[in-house]
Amino acid sequence: MSHEAHVLEQYDDTPFTAWFDHFAAGHIHLGYWPPGREDQSFAEAATALTALLIERLGVFAGQRVLDVGCGVLAGPAIQLAAATGCEVDGVTLEPNAKRLVPERAAAAGVADNVRVHVGNASALPFPDDSFDAAWLVEMLIHVPDKKPVLREVHRVLRPGARIVIADYPAGERFSPGLRWVTDNYFVPASAAELERMLAEAGFTAVTWEDHNDTVAVPSFQRMLDLALARPEETKAVVGEDTYELFADLVPDGSAAHRDRALSYGVFTARTP
Ligand SMILES: C[S@@+](CC[C@H](N)C(=O)[O-])C[C@H]1O[C@@H](n2cnc3c(N)ncnc32)[C@H](O)[C@@H]1O
Repeated sequence: MSHEAHVLEQYDDTPFTAWFDHFAAGHIHLGYWPPGREDQSFAEAATALTALLIERLGVFAGQRVLDVGCGVLAGPAIQLAAATGCEVDGVTLEPNAKRLVPERAAAAGVADNVRVHVGNASALPFPDDSFDAAWLVEMLIHVPDKKPVLREVHRVLRPGARIVIADYPAGERFSPGLRWVTDNYFVPASAAELERMLAEAGFTAVTWEDHNDTVAVPSFQRMLDLALARPEETKAVVGEDTYELFADLVPDGSAAHRDRALSYGVFTARTP
């Protein structure tokens, strides 16, 4: 099975996706717990992380945004369209997105602003200079060869366009054999490598913020707390077998971020 087929199997309307639908309001990404907002639920924190990325993207009504790896539920794309009035084209591997994203976008009142395309980000179905901005939210971690994807995104962006990437850079104590990494089909690059790849793809003004302690560490702790505190609710959402797998594997993710084998970063850059 190809790497993409494994990634697809993980996300296409699966128990894993059901967990994020139920506990993270349709965002298949982590949550943001800045100091002073420790009381937020997982769903509030996931929405807060998307809000942080929206702020970094800085787009407005009428602009066109590309969401690379938008996910089968497209929670971030829908929040972005609702918050700014921009037009969002999402690209994702899951065929079920064709059914689910229009339903979710309609329920949020942004049916006309959000479109989804099923396909691989290494061959984007858009002409050059199509978009004012792009983001990749917890997507690049799954891509073994990141450079062609970054070159494709650069190709379809207009001059002066912003790109925002939320991802899991390899930390100081990264080891490729970590079960959390291999079981999730993660292919982490260090923050320095990601910055270099962005520059090589033609992006300038590359910056990154380390959010390991405000995003990854608290998110994994909350996942564990939820699984332990609300086992029946979690089992009802994901099923008994997935619950057992989840309870066995999430401590590895938690440890990976506490030990800085992995980090969490928000990268920004722009086209010249
Ligand atoms: C962790 S989920 C994030 C989904 C969404 N960005 C969100 O934050 O809710 C990772 C997503 O990346 C997508 N993805 C991974 N590799 C991809 C590729 N080569 N082309 C398109 N999408 C890809 C997967 O299909 C999956 O939907």
